[in-house]
Amino acid sequence: MRIIGTGSSLPQQVVTNEDLSKIMDTSDEWISSRTGIKERHLAKEETTVSMSAEAAGRALRNAGIKAEDVDLIIVATITGDYITPSTACEVQAELGAEHAAAFDINAACSGFMFALHTAYAYLQTGIYKTALVVGAETLSKIMDWSDRSTCVLFGDGAGAVVVRAGGEESNEEGNGGGLLAFEQGTDGSRGKVLACEGRKNQNPLVQNPFVPSYVDMDGQEVYKFAVSTVPASILRVLEMSGTAAEDIKYFVLHQANIRIIQSVAKRLKADIEKFPVSLDHCGNVSAASVPILLDEMNQKGMLARGDKIVMSGFGGGLTWASAVIEW
Ligand code: COA
Repeated sequence: MRIIGTGSSLPQQVVTNEDLSKIMDTSDEWISSRTGIKERHLAKEETTVSMSAEAAGRALRNAGIKAEDVDLIIVATITGDYITPSTACEVQAELGAEHAAAFDINAACSGFMFALHTAYAYLQTGIYKTALVVGAETLSKIMDWSDRSTCVLFGDGAGAVVVRAGGEESNEEGNGGGLLAFEQGTDGSRGKVLACEGRKNQNPLVQNPFVPSYVDMDGQEVYKFAVSTVPASILRVLEMSGTAAEDIKYFVLHQANIRIIQSVAKRLKADIEKFPVSLDHCGNVSAASVPILLDEMNQKGMLARGDKIVMSGFGGGLTWASAVIEW
């Protein structure tokens, strides 16, 4: 399975740390020094569906294929516009991808990687040939804007890739490249350290006052989880693929916090220059962060055929997922 196209979409409205400091008790100094985030895009007119469809359309154009050629659409999101229909179903309609089956995946910030691996399973077994994998979030609608310890960290946006079953063109080692190894994992027992409660039952047998719920996070516990789990997961996929860390051109990590990225680089003894960053201008966009970063890299011409890349997502669930791919 190869990634043959990328695309992304960000809301028009940019909100800087300085802007936030005018509406809450925070500062650019606090946010930048602890997280590396300088600004983020926040949706006004945009929705999870509109950004997903725009990112997906751009990925299709980048791949040079038509919507009718897509067999499968998977959208990773925790902030769909509707409970049903899923975001993926709406994207299918927007694109006119009439031959595609479509569904959403909820694995929070690991969602894009879980969706990519799910697409791989379908492609590898020959069930489908071409898939659109999207990560999209409108996180600003589930933030508690009176909780400065969480709302400053997140942003809105969408990223997408087109993947195609292939392998017909072998590389020097005699394999077709693409996805070389992956793993994913879950620790549900620690899930409540990063949570957003769903709607409570309002049926006539129970009396639950309607109280909207927002993201609630124990930042230090999530930090400890990330800096221990992510390097271990990456080391496992490197070993599974028989690749040395030195042979990896880029480590494309979920963009939560620059200090997490620096810590992972240190533990892998890898050059920090190999860890591209988009969190400075996007914040944490959960499932969308890896595909947005990948698209930025692709647009800048940073990715060449044969390059080996690690991608890794981690977050709510708790969940994590890593892969080694050959571009
Ligand atoms: N502006 C100014 N001060 C803030 C603030 C903000 N936006 N948010 C919190 N503070 C204050 C706190 O109230 C606290 O003040 P106190 O000491 O007077 O009580 C102080 O800053 C330190 O807060 P603390 O939560 O201990 O900060 P921290 O050093 O742990 O950093 C995070 C907080 C969230 C940046 C850090 O824990 C982190 O990055 N965790 C990982 C979160 C993450 O990446 N989640 C998503 C994973 S997918």
